[in-house]
Amino acid sequence: MDRYAVFGNPIGHSKSPLIHRSFAEQTQQDLSYEAILAPVDGFAEAWQQFVATGGKGANVTVPFKEVAFRLADHCTLRAMQAQAVNTLYIEQDGRLVGDNTDGAGLVADLIRLGASLEGAKVLILGAGGACRGVIGPLLTAGVAVIHVANRSVDTALLVAGDFNAQVSGSGFADIPKQPWTLVINATSAGLHGSRPDIDASHLSHCELAYDMLYGTEPTAFLMWAQQSGVKCIADGLGMLVSQAAESFQIWRGITPAVTPVLNKLQELMQQ
Ligand code: ATR
Repeated sequence: MDRYAVFGNPIGHSKSPLIHRSFAEQTQQDLSYEAILAPVDGFAEAWQQFVATGGKGANVTVPFKEVAFRLADHCTLRAMQAQAVNTLYIEQDGRLVGDNTDGAGLVADLIRLGASLEGAKVLILGAGGACRGVIGPLLTAGVAVIHVANRSVDTALLVAGDFNAQVSGSGFADIPKQPWTLVINATSAGLHGSRPDIDASHLSHCELAYDMLYGTEPTAFLMWAQQSGVKCIADGLGMLVSQAAESFQIWRGITPAVTPVLNKLQELMQQ
């Protein structure tokens, strides 16, 4: 049986095993998928051990996405743009390939939610790994402009500078006054119950406010967006399932259906 896994630290609460096992059942693929807790400074060794014992591919999560990027023999364009890898697999010639399906997962989820991406004006809050991973795929999906606003201005400018002229950057106080149609929270502020400190006027044309985090309750950012009049809000659970579907497709050559697995996860989270 082909072996797959997700590597992280911590990893106990990962939903990836449930998601991939559901995909396997749905598509009748004979595979196993486990969660592996790797030591913080021991990702490469853990991966090698996994391969030596029949591992075919893996997902990689916090804090190993950057080290996986450096470990891969070859990275896809989207992984290069993200400077991080969330999907690993071994080519027929033995080369280790690093890919990043996070951005494709976000785009797929935005489409599922009915967002119009062609010509969209996108405001991304946060300039860490989560932001960097989605810029390339959003541009490929046809958005018109992306502005990256971050608490630390320098990081926003650095990230924006790595992309073309459609992408700009600033601090939260200097966000240009534009009709942002899609506002995405890529900060980790929600983990501490807070939200990025931006002016509500930036939401006046917002059709969808999206938070890459997810939980049993809406994040502080999503509650604020709703109170500020944004009609459609969504958390990152759909992105999680969609990025997994993209990884599964890469490994198995078959695209699983996202909606039944997303429904199942939502049900479990409400219990
Ligand atoms: P990463 O390792 O991906 O950079 P991180 O350190 O958790 O993850 O930070 C992710 C993003 O959330 C960063 O853009 C961070 O802003 P800074 O670059 O200024 O640190 C942002 N962030 C975290 N907490 C925040 C908060 N309370 N308000 C606004 N932004 C926050």
